[in-house]
Amino acid sequence: MKILLTGGTGYIGAHTAVEALNKGYEVVLVDNLSNSKKSVVNAIEQITNKKVKFYQKDLCNKKDTFKIIAKEKPDQVIHFAGLKAVGESVKIPLKYYENNLVSTLNVLEAMQSVGCNNFIFSSSATVYGEPKKLPITEEFLVSATNPYGRTKLFIEEILRDYAKANPNLNICILRYFNPVGAHPSALIGEDPNGIPNNLMPYITKVAMKKLPELKIFGNDYPTKDGTGVRDYIHVVDLARAHICAIDKNLENTGVTVYNVGTGVGYSVLEMVQTFEKVNNILVPYSFVARRAGDIPECYASNAKAEKELRFKTQLSLEDMVKSAYEYEKKHN
Ligand code: NAD
Ligand code: UFG
Repeated sequence: MKILLTGGTGYIGAHTAVEALNKGYEVVLVDNLSNSKKSVVNAIEQITNKKVKFYQKDLCNKKDTFKIIAKEKPDQVIHFAGLKAVGESVKIPLKYYENNLVSTLNVLEAMQSVGCNNFIFSSSATVYGEPKKLPITEEFLVSATNPYGRTKLFIEEILRDYAKANPNLNICILRYFNPVGAHPSALIGEDPNGIPNNLMPYITKVAMKKLPELKIFGNDYPTKDGTGVRDYIHVVDLARAHICAIDKNLENTGVTVYNVGTGVGYSVLEMVQTFEKVNNILVPYSFVARRAGDIPECYASNAKAEKELRFKTQLSLEDMVKSAYEYEKKHN
């Protein structure tokens, strides 16, 4: 089976490429390298000892997108490509709408032109806004608080409309919770540009003394220790969920939506303490005001993914913090 991964040199795409290659699938990557590096292609090949085909192209370019998909004729497409920084999306919303929506439409149309009906989409737990209760199930109402989240909601709606008109389509929407960590080889991992927005890459930079201290956004939330709680999932587990989704699409079930998390919430302080203990290093921190737009607590019900995708996470919080630090030490 041939799988085409858009955004395939990105953080989650690269880890999924490794899992797909290990499973014996043929893998094609497309990425404009706006948020990743070409060296990732070699890293994937080094880990798997297999060849991958890579196209450095922008999926907002319709002609290029059609050309690649017509040439490759993939059996399934996993669509990771997109801009993902919440704060940036508030500042340059049109860029986010253009990049995330136009690229998706181009990919879908190009797939249609070659009769490829199997699509997996990277959505996000951000579509749940501030949940009224926990854990979050797939039936919860969805809403968006920023343009990035709205691109995910819009694309989910587009996919439902498209599937209604085309009963042959198999579409799996995966709503990721908080992916962290890196491949155990430390050859691929999370590599954000500039100062990280997200917790784990910020912690690793503080541990490496690249940043003086972690600022913990709020210690007055109604949570176990006052700091924000999230459902962190190891990126290798998340990558494996895509392999389950590939199988699911073969069952011809139309549009399906799954949370991909561990079902367990950890606080910021628990993350820091686990990181310190496992890696035997101090992470200085101070408490500052809450970050605008943050919610107190968020974790998934993973019952549906366990039952229907037969997906179960295998890696622990210790694996997450260890691999994240190993990657940082090797690369920065
Ligand atoms: P990433 O930025 O590492 O990967 C996305 C890749 O898409 C990048 O390599 C980028 O260069 C590429 N890209 C962007 N626009 C493109 C375009 N027009 N044409 C071709 N390539 C393009 O991000 P990631 O963390 O791997 O996330 C993958 C997907 O998962 C994204 O859609 C993101 O919104 C979603 N997601 C991520 C998280 C997270 O916390 N990392 C959480 C929920 C959902
Ligand atoms: N945090 C800090 N200090 C930091 C960074 C984060 O205290 O420097 C805290 C946040 O307040 C939050 C927790 O750490 O309580 C996690 O924050 P992240 O920024 O790592 O993750 P978010 O849950 O805010 O958001 C992430 C992605 C979104 C995605 C969401 C759900 O950035 O795009 O997970 O998947 F939608």
